[in-house]
Amino acid sequence: MPPGRLLGVAAAIACLPVLVLILLVATGAAAPGPALTGVAVVVAGALLLALAWTRDTARLVAILRHAERNEPLALAHAAAAIRLPPLARLARAIERLARTLAHRAAEAEQRLRATETILDRLPDPLLVLAPDRSVRRANAAARAAFGADIPAVLRHPGLRAALDRAFAKGGPQIADLSLPVPVPREVQATVMVLDPPLADGGVAIAVLSDRSRERAVERMRADFVANASHELRTPLASLIGFIDTLRGPAADDKPAQKRFLGIMAEQAQRMNRLIDDLLNLSRIELSEHQPPAEAVAIGEIVQRIAASFEPRLAARRMRLELDVAEGLAPVAADADQIEQVLQNLVDNALKYGREGGAVRVAAVPARPPARPGVVLSVADDGPGIAREHLPRLTERFYRVDKGRSRERGGTGLGLAIVKHIASRHRGQLTIESEEGKGTTFALWLPAAPPPGP
Ligand SMILES: Nc1ncnc2c1ncn2[C@@H]1O[C@H](COP(=O)(O)OP(=O)(O)OP(=O)(O)O)[C@@H](O)[C@H]1O
Ligand SMILES: [Mg+2]
Repeated sequence: MPPGRLLGVAAAIACLPVLVLILLVATGAAAPGPALTGVAVVVAGALLLALAWTRDTARLVAILRHAERNEPLALAHAAAAIRLPPLARLARAIERLARTLAHRAAEAEQRLRATETILDRLPDPLLVLAPDRSVRRANAAARAAFGADIPAVLRHPGLRAALDRAFAKGGPQIADLSLPVPVPREVQATVMVLDPPLADGGVAIAVLSDRSRERAVERMRADFVANASHELRTPLASLIGFIDTLRGPAADDKPAQKRFLGIMAEQAQRMNRLIDDLLNLSRIELSEHQPPAEAVAIGEIVQRIAASFEPRLAARRMRLELDVAEGLAPVAADADQIEQVLQNLVDNALKYGREGGAVRVAAVPARPPARPGVVLSVADDGPGIAREHLPRLTERFYRVDKGRSRERGGTGLGLAIVKHIASRHRGQLTIESEEGKGTTFALWLPAAPPPGP
């Protein structure tokens, strides 16, 4: 403690009583001896008081410093050392205030952290933008979706225009962006200006929702309607054409009439098949969220319907090889739909397989690493399917060779139906094909859960 300050405080305390004593001696109201003793006592007392005062005020300064640094233990220690009662009371008040402030700061910090966690874990990518429109923060979804490409996303003219509108008008602004990097995708950006700005200086947020799937579904739906109408229009146009011919030029030509009626019946059957398949597909789709619960013995179904293929096998001089494992575990399945899968796959093997070749139908237990269940497979030794077609084979109306499929009465819906049945059964369809060697369709079906008590 600086001595000058100590003396200054002592002088401030003692100056008035000492002056009074000197005045009393000067006017003769007090004897010099006792007055000098009084002065000595006052000076000694003032020195002691000044010592306590300066020490305690220095401790108060230390207390405030501890409060600022949030050091509760050191603060309590310094407060306990204060001697002068008014300063001790002040120290206790500071201690209480410091505790309240620390509590509030902890609460605010917790709230901030909770908000940040929510933002970070939002499933949609979210960017917090600084006033210069650079990224102040990006949540986990944004980092995962765009990574190092975030600045490129922010440079997108559509997003920049939405930001301009948001700053000009306030309120959320939406922009649809087509992003070519890192993978082509369709993103819907919702931009909002933050008023007041965030504590970290963020002035706007951009939520970037990936809409690629929805857009693909929309496109697929539109394609589906176009494809279905096209598939119906072709036989319908042919029917109308023949009706006109029968009414006009061929009105009296009996042999031509017989031939045309045969073709017309074929076209009408084709339309009928197409409509049946479409209805079937939509029925399966409607029940897709509801997996079947019935325990079904797949082996029995295979054995039962194998005989029904005989006439068609004979027509193409093909043979059927059956491999049904003994004691197959039952699967949770819809027997009619499993039958439909077999029908569609064997039908394809018969239509596109090698004339005089073999169709192998197997139902065997799934082998690890596949989960427990049964694998139902249909394989042929036909011309196979080129690799580039495999991913699209289960799309509705997708045909490798349209002409050949049509000529054999195909609607292009058989494998789409198989895929939807597989997905309703929570199963897995795999297609393996080698050109010139043949194709194998395999459907893994999960084992039925053991019966309840
Ligand atoms: N075993 C196979 N070998 C070679 N190509 C096949 C085989 N199975 C299917 N394909 C090809 O996949 C396409 C789609 O098959 P899908 O069963 O969905 O339709 P489709 O047989 O043409 O008509 P549908 O089954 O509705 O009568 C077929 O057109 C054919 O080109
Ligand atoms: Mg088919």
